[in-house]
Amino acid sequence: MYLTLRLETTSYTKDQLRFPDLPQIALAGRSNVGKSSLINSLAGQKKLARISSTPGKTRSINFFLAPQENFYLVDLPGYGYARCSRVEREKWGELIQEYLQDNHHLAGVVLLLDSRISPQSSDLDLAHYVDSLQTRLLPVLTKADKCNQKQRQLALKRWQKLLERAHKPILFSARTRQGQQALLEAIKNLVQA
Ligand code: GTP
Ligand code: MG
Repeated sequence: MYLTLRLETTSYTKDQLRFPDLPQIALAGRSNVGKSSLINSLAGQKKLARISSTPGKTRSINFFLAPQENFYLVDLPGYGYARCSRVEREKWGELIQEYLQDNHHLAGVVLLLDSRISPQSSDLDLAHYVDSLQTRLLPVLTKADKCNQKQRQLALKRWQKLLERAHKPILFSARTRQGQQALLEAIKNLVQA
């Protein structure tokens, strides 16, 4: 089962930022973790959100409307990308923060974490920030197809312990669509809660 999605709005700067009058689920995570691939996977499309093997592909906040369920999936630029200028990084950080804070329609944040990489301070910072906004956090461990069973279980346990106040992490692969139904259900539950 796929989610019908269409790109409605793109914001590159704080001035362009829109706060649509519908529930929103934001996708956050470090550059290259697989945010845009996850959107394509949920939609069953290849080129809805633009993906790249080079980190820093998504540079704007992209609002994808789910017209049947009446909510937005919001693709955020990745954080923690070392190879762009400090000024540019700060600009994205401010844009993301401006969007997340005081957003009364924010129904939850899906935090994408690479299942092969050990927990990074930038991920924990973001998790704590979401917690401080009193918004629900849904951790998703991406690229599960690149791990063996033992690595997957290790990642699951590690993140579950670190993010004990969040939803149980979901193992996901955009390549095999492992975890896709569980993720869709968890997202719909956030929207309805
Ligand atoms: P930014 O826009 O830079 O923040 O990156 P992003 O988080 O949107 O990542 P994106 O979806 O562009 O994917 C980055 C790279 O990881 C691409 O080369 C994808 O093909 C690859 N990738 C994403 N998801 C998966 C997955 O589940 N499995 C595998 N094997 N590769 C994946
Ligand atoms: Mg992206």
